[in-house]
Amino acid sequence: MANDNHHVIAVAGPAELAKMAAERLIARISANAGRAAICLTGGSSPKQLYQLLATDAYRSRIPWDHVHWFIGDDRFVAADDPLNNMAMARRLFLDRCAPADTIHPIPTDAADPEDAARRYESELKSYYGFSRLNPARPLFDLVLMGVGPDGHTASIFPDYPAMGETGRWVVGVPKANVEPFVPRVTLTLPALASCREMLFQIAGPGKRAILTRVLAGENLPASRAQSIGETIWLVDQAALPENFRGR
Ligand code: 6PG
Repeated sequence: MANDNHHVIAVAGPAELAKMAAERLIARISANAGRAAICLTGGSSPKQLYQLLATDAYRSRIPWDHVHWFIGDDRFVAADDPLNNMAMARRLFLDRCAPADTIHPIPTDAADPEDAARRYESELKSYYGFSRLNPARPLFDLVLMGVGPDGHTASIFPDYPAMGETGRWVVGVPKANVEPFVPRVTLTLPALASCREMLFQIAGPGKRAILTRVLAGENLPASRAQSIGETIWLVDQAALPENFRGR
């Protein structure tokens, strides 16, 4: 599978990457005259972006009352656990900027990851207003993504059942393939695809090997994750595969 519709944008380094991601996020919010829905991601890659959004220069450009914040996956740990992805986003910008009722965390106080997945799926469906995804009306304006060393994205790991899920919007993942080895809850590929833009943020030399495999179209979750709209790969020089240099 060649990823011909994967648009790679090369940037100098992590600071430029965060700025460009912030501009794209603001552009997607501005393009929606109603309420906009953003699906955040965990891991370390989005941290600089989240910090930037809390600065006066960016914060003042976001109509906070009109934006709803979701998360593409989370670790099944307490809401205030340092490993919790939404806790990280809350700490870095949401709690200072967004009204509480616009923040939609995965309920990790559920009985188990499956229960949390069912509850989050109903929350997404009630926000969307329908229980079937309509390509003419994407669920999210923007979905942020990262890539792990094994080619996972969100908490969809290579060869796990979640990778082939076509019906459910959210599933429980009892065991992670990489650290931290805690159960996860993840949106599925069709739910993540239901967006106007999917934006991957990839930085640092440690990402170059896996990115080379993903962009070559190897059958990995990150290669399969594509928006029904635009799919953008923001990549810094250190992570950029050899064959993408100078393009
Ligand atoms: C998670 C993430 C995960 C992450 C990648 C990249 O819960 O860990 O949502 O999919 O985006 O593993 O992580 P880094 O940005 O830390 O490399």
